[in-house]
Amino acid sequence: MYKDLERVPALVAERGLALGAPLTCRDETASTNDDAKRAAKEGAPAGSLFLAESQTAGRGRMGRTWLSARGENLLFSLVVRPNCPPSRVPPLALVAGLAVRDAVAKVVGEGEVKVKWPNDVLVRGKKIAGVLVESTVVGSRVDAVIVGIGVNVLSRDLPEAIASIATSVALELPAGAPPPDRAAILVDVLAGLDRDLGHVAARGLGLVHARLGRADALRGRRVAGELGAGTAEGVDTDGRLLVRDDAGVLHRWSSGEVTLAPRRA
Ligand code: BTN
Repeated sequence: MYKDLERVPALVAERGLALGAPLTCRDETASTNDDAKRAAKEGAPAGSLFLAESQTAGRGRMGRTWLSARGENLLFSLVVRPNCPPSRVPPLALVAGLAVRDAVAKVVGEGEVKVKWPNDVLVRGKKIAGVLVESTVVGSRVDAVIVGIGVNVLSRDLPEAIASIATSVALELPAGAPPPDRAAILVDVLAGLDRDLGHVAARGLGLVHARLGRADALRGRRVAGELGAGTAEGVDTDGRLLVRDDAGVLHRWSSGEVTLAPRRA
């Protein structure tokens, strides 16, 4: 583990968090989601955190690769055991997005840090973090949920493939601000998840719905996806994206990729 992350266990304990321990930190792994999934199958307790300084097979949604330079960012996966039906799992990605949004906004400033349904965090329209939620189901209940999160923190030279569409905390810092603190950001994300995840798994998005609405990158924007196109009108309490098509019909998209049309000048 790099020096700046050595404070994580102490910060988790100090803040009395139920998520973040035990911590397994690897210099290199294939994917922290795979580490967490394997451990969950072997009985790892809820709250177990798997962190890595680099991944050789970091994964995003829709089969994409997650790229991150060694030691510069946050790559981690949590094991949670919410004892909920599978239908409650998709909204958990939005809760994770909100926790990351709040932690990032605390450092770069509140304006323009948004959650883009279903799993991205954007600053001024550029992606700063992604969430990959996976679950294992036994019978009709969820046995474990793996919440995988990648946050670009210290990187200033982003890989060429993503440089025009991605950003990092370091690149978004206000002038004169101290360098970003990876441990503090990680523990703030854990605290946000600790506060909201169990509740949303048990009762749905109601409690965080208003906050999610204020952070929504898509609301009022023209969007397109595999299911069509229209204007985004927020997210319902089951975590589905509400899209009104040009004929005025409201659709609820439950998964997929959404592209944002540029704002009209
Ligand atoms: C996405 O944007 O599609 C989701 C990206 C999720 C990346 C994180 S990095 C830590 C964890 N391990 C992985 O292999 N993926 C997630």
